[in-house]
Amino acid sequence: MQWVHSADWQATNKWKDLRQARKKRFYFANCSMIIADFRSDTLTRPSPAMMKAMASAEVGDDVFEEDPTVNRLEILAASKFGMEASIFCASGTMSNQIAVKAHTQPGDEVICAINAHVYIYEGGGIAFNSGSQCTPLISDRGRINATQISLAINPDDVHKARTSLVCLENTSNRGGGSCYQMSDIKSIRAVCDDQNLALHLDGARLFNALIAKKESAEEYGRIFDSISVCLNKGLGCPIGSLLLGKKEFIRQARRIRKVFGGGMRQAGFMAACGIYALENNVERLAIDHMRASQIAEVISSKSFTKCVMPVETNIVILETTSEFPAQYVSECLAKKGVRTIAIASNQLRFVTHLDITDAMMNHSLEIIRDFK
Ligand SMILES: Cc1ncc(COP(=O)(O)O)c(C=O)c1O
Repeated sequence: MQWVHSADWQATNKWKDLRQARKKRFYFANCSMIIADFRSDTLTRPSPAMMKAMASAEVGDDVFEEDPTVNRLEILAASKFGMEASIFCASGTMSNQIAVKAHTQPGDEVICAINAHVYIYEGGGIAFNSGSQCTPLISDRGRINATQISLAINPDDVHKARTSLVCLENTSNRGGGSCYQMSDIKSIRAVCDDQNLALHLDGARLFNALIAKKESAEEYGRIFDSISVCLNKGLGCPIGSLLLGKKEFIRQARRIRKVFGGGMRQAGFMAACGIYALENNVERLAIDHMRASQIAEVISSKSFTKCVMPVETNIVILETTSEFPAQYVSECLAKKGVRTIAIASNQLRFVTHLDITDAMMNHSLEIIRDFK
């Protein structure tokens, strides 16, 4: 947002001009107060109610499994998914990495999408932490299918890595918040059963998929061997993710979390945010989805837009035309208080979340409409 510098109105020698310049300055000063940050849903800050829950949390030492609030969160999450147990972790990356470690042996192979978070955004963690390699598959906006997976499984041959794990992501981050069809997930489960493979779900934004598709958490709990769900994204917590699975798997995960340096002590302060979020911030994700659709609608007719990925949840990814590099569009919008992220030279991303207000939405839609 441009600020009319005082030097500008010193140069005006008529009172009328001065009054107009003051008006303009006032207008811009007020506009500059609106900054809508659509770079990620990880940017949310804990609300006063969440802070209150945090401040009043009863805590203990969670490495001794004596933090009552962490225990409560873990039981709550497991029961939501109808799974035996869960473990509170610092981040989605940590949950995923613990799961991969628990499901594989060094030298194994993990099948996932070529644009899966575990493959492209976790610092090579599968190789680093588990000594396993990935077979990345071409995806349909982050989704892979049962046929592709069947073809990618290695035969029992000493020359080949042992395929032991399939990792899905729902919703898909790089797929623009796309969701799997439940029937496709079930077909993948059947392949895993047939070939004796474990099936992990990176469900960092699984609640977005549940709301968008009106699916039940229990159904996911019945299908997957392990699921990671993030609290620190659309649900609005400052920290945290939960890894869910069978009791024995979570016992092993607890050991791995400690080895990874993720054993936390009075983590109940953070777990209290998680309980608050699970109880209060899930249903409202529908608002984020509606807002993402509004952005997509307005943006699709702009001259800088080549195409917009179909919007299924809270992520909008658009491809820019060759005349408008994504970074340029992002910088122009940022100057007007609309923050986005260029995720490739020709791809711009908006993510809606619970810190976006109606005023921010109206302001942003207006700025996008006015973009020349
Ligand atoms: C699909 C997906 N999985 C995992 C993660 C990792 O979460 P964290 O940032 O908590 O490590 C992210 C983060 O954006 C994500 O989008």
